[in-house]
Amino acid sequence: MNGKVVRYGIVGVGKQGTFYTKIFTKLKGLVKGAKLTAVCDIAEDRRQYAEQNLKGVKVFSDYKEMFASGLIDVVMVETPHYFHPQIAIDAMKAGLNVLCDKPAGVYLKQVREMMAEADKHPDLLFGMMFNQRTNPLYIKAKQIIDSGQLGKLTRIVWIITNWYRPRAYYAQGGWRGTWWGEGGGVLLNQCPHQLDLFTWLAGLPVSVTATTSTVGRDISVENDVTAYCKFANGATGVFITSTHDAPGTNRLEITGEGGKIVIEHGKLTFTKNAELEPVFSEHNEVFMGKPKTKKSTYRGIGHYLRLKKYPPQHIGIIKNYTDYLLGKTDKFIAPGKEGITGLTFSNAIHLAGWTGQEVHIPLDDDFYLEQLQKRIEEEKANGKK
Ligand SMILES: NC(=O)c1ccc[n+]([C@@H]2O[C@H](COP(=O)([O-])OP(=O)(O)OC[C@H]3O[C@@H](n4cnc5c(N)ncnc54)[C@H](O)[C@@H]3O)[C@@H](O)[C@H]2O)c1
Repeated sequence: MNGKVVRYGIVGVGKQGTFYTKIFTKLKGLVKGAKLTAVCDIAEDRRQYAEQNLKGVKVFSDYKEMFASGLIDVVMVETPHYFHPQIAIDAMKAGLNVLCDKPAGVYLKQVREMMAEADKHPDLLFGMMFNQRTNPLYIKAKQIIDSGQLGKLTRIVWIITNWYRPRAYYAQGGWRGTWWGEGGGVLLNQCPHQLDLFTWLAGLPVSVTATTSTVGRDISVENDVTAYCKFANGATGVFITSTHDAPGTNRLEITGEGGKIVIEHGKLTFTKNAELEPVFSEHNEVFMGKPKTKKSTYRGIGHYLRLKKYPPQHIGIIKNYTDYLLGKTDKFIAPGKEGITGLTFSNAIHLAGWTGQEVHIPLDDDFYLEQLQKRIEEEKANGKK
């Protein structure tokens, strides 16, 4: 697509889709080379909104008509999660590039079909809206880990309990916070970014045990999770999340033989050991000796300004996707194929919570779906639809 303008079409002009229309129309200077040319929504009020507010943008009620219109090069998938894989598959079959919002889907079986379709279209660009991957603090953490300075990872702990959602959030009804409409609670709605980053930074665990429960809200899905996981190299991890803690916490701690990274309160602190811990322990003769350390701190915005590259978050992903399609960069921040990794961790946590058993990865996709369907049936029987 060298030298052209990339034409985007959005499927789903709800809360998130509308937010993206504003990036294209009101902040277009930040995404040069990208143009919104079409949108689609099955809801009449959302189409009316688009007709009235998006001048020069064609509005469709059927996404397949939008795909066949010849008006777009990229499909942004912005519907509830269950529909992400099928819409992405249909887009690829129509010869269109796909930028899919998180999560990649709800259960692995459907996401594997999306990945298989992507394999058939190496000419198309398939990306995920993992906007948190543009956060300079996580980029810095990744650079430190990839540079080998942290040595062998030994532990990763993320407490992300600041996704507070009160009763009124769930009382608004609709697909959110239900097994039938969303396929899960905090793991599927709020946490896909952290589950992606957890596995992006530390890799996919080999097994998971977890408690998933519903605390203080009249919903059937989980809003409280504590997961313990093991990695192939013997490292361990803990992932704690909730939507009912007030005040909540957002603290990520990654420890390796070479030191420790902590991200909290908008800054990253890297405490680097002067030598790897096992090396120190071997030669140290002091009863309570410890490796000498050096501390460095990185602030989010400052680091971004030094990078002077991509504005963070959603604009950063759209800009990177556009630049990559136009051949202006060879760095692709969030490849679509990586969308399955965080979802694998998510499905494993759910299954471990549901069964009370340690779940080994790769997990049994069919059993997962069976268990999910059982919960959808129970929800229907309880009138929580
Ligand atoms: N990346 C992020 O930071 C972020 C933030 C919020 C939401 N999201 C994701 O965006 C997606 C949508 O969330 P939302 O809050 O906008 O939901 P929403 O319910 O506000 O909007 C979804 C829209 O999709 C439309 N829709 C449903 N099926 C459709 C179909 N077949 N064809 C066309 N339109 C269809 C609905 O009518 C609705 O207008 C979710 O998957 C969510 O996880 C991502």
